[in-house]
Amino acid sequence: MNTFETHVVSPRGNSRIVVGNGALARLGELAATAVKGRRVCVVTDANVGNLHLEPALASLRAAGFAAESVALPAGEKTKSVEWLVTLWNTFNGYGLTRSDLVVALGGGVVGDLAGFASATYLRGCAIVQVPTSLLAQVDSSVGGKTGIDLPFGKNLAGAFHQPAVVVVDPLVLKTLPPPRFAEGMAEVVKYGCIADDDLFADLEAFAGNPGDAEALRAIIQRCVQIKADVVNRDELDTGERMLLNFGHTVGHAIEKVMGYGYISHGEAVAIGMTAAARLGESLGATPAGTAARIEALLKRFALPTTTAFTAADIFEAMLADKKKLGKQIHFILLSTIGRAVRRPFDPDALRQALDGVLAGMTGDGTEV
Ligand SMILES: NC(=O)c1ccc[n+]([C@@H]2O[C@H](COP(=O)([O-])OP(=O)(O)OC[C@H]3O[C@@H](n4cnc5c(N)ncnc54)[C@H](O)[C@@H]3O)[C@@H](O)[C@H]2O)c1
Ligand SMILES: [Zn+2]
Repeated sequence: MNTFETHVVSPRGNSRIVVGNGALARLGELAATAVKGRRVCVVTDANVGNLHLEPALASLRAAGFAAESVALPAGEKTKSVEWLVTLWNTFNGYGLTRSDLVVALGGGVVGDLAGFASATYLRGCAIVQVPTSLLAQVDSSVGGKTGIDLPFGKNLAGAFHQPAVVVVDPLVLKTLPPPRFAEGMAEVVKYGCIADDDLFADLEAFAGNPGDAEALRAIIQRCVQIKADVVNRDELDTGERMLLNFGHTVGHAIEKVMGYGYISHGEAVAIGMTAAARLGESLGATPAGTAARIEALLKRFALPTTTAFTAADIFEAMLADKKKLGKQIHFILLSTIGRAVRRPFDPDALRQALDGVLAGMTGDGTEV
């Protein structure tokens, strides 16, 4: 097996991140190095549980763990206070102590919820993340951000809690529904845009041969390394980690205007990256032709690059979303493919510039 390892090193604990086709079979062995206790509760959701729970439990039991599991309903609604309490109760019911282990087997919803439950249960016990969606493999499982949604907004309660181990097995993505794969690809394209022009070129090649499991493994490995590098330099998200928000300012606004669930996060980010690249070009900050290259790649992964929303729509959502009127807005632009910069804008100037950009993104009428 072609296995790769990297680490997140932080005052709050270190993460060992293992990427390999077939790595799920090593879950027990890797988990055993992380904790003294031999009780484990695997948290999963109904979809992933049906597909991948048995091999995960078998690997843990072969390594000497008394392994139990809980399968939650799939979907964002499960990232709630109610299910957090259910997990605390479940861990207690299984007799988990502070030296035992939680395993999160699933996408970002399971990872964030089980992560927060493990960060808070008995003031914190260890967690191993086994991300099973592309988004979770390249983004949410690495970096230690955990949390739940509250009735008045997403991700409003949470904690930084580094997973002891992250086991990334790209082969589990074979069962991922194609729209969810495309959604994760938006974040993958983002890494190419902000940090690695070679990755971007590899993605252009991969789009022509999407069944290439070895190419996909190498792409995921690269994304994991970029995320780990950024987190190692800025764990608490006060500086460089913000570059990961490329495409997300407009993307989050579109998600908000449309209503969560009506457009996927990845689709909104694809539109947001298109807007950010075009904005950069219109300001002379991004070389001409950059946006066209990004749009062409996004389209090959079945991601949208057009929108009927205007700058007024986007601004209303953006300003309602924590940024205060009158203050500068920080926007991530590309100085070239592979390099991102944070640029402060006066809100009026940004609104004017976005007006022109979005007017040019209305496509053929089938856009979101
Ligand atoms: N903590 C972070 O740093 C961070 C970063 C980005 C996103 N997030 C969070 O991640 C969440 C989104 O994650 P997501 O996109 O993985 O959503 P998700 O967990 O809902 O998974 C998407 C869907 O795919 C299914 N699925 C997952 N793996 C599968 C597989 N291998 N085979 C078949 N089906 C599978 C799930 O059951 C679900 O229906 C959001 O709540 C977001 O806030 C967190
Ligand atoms: Zn994102």
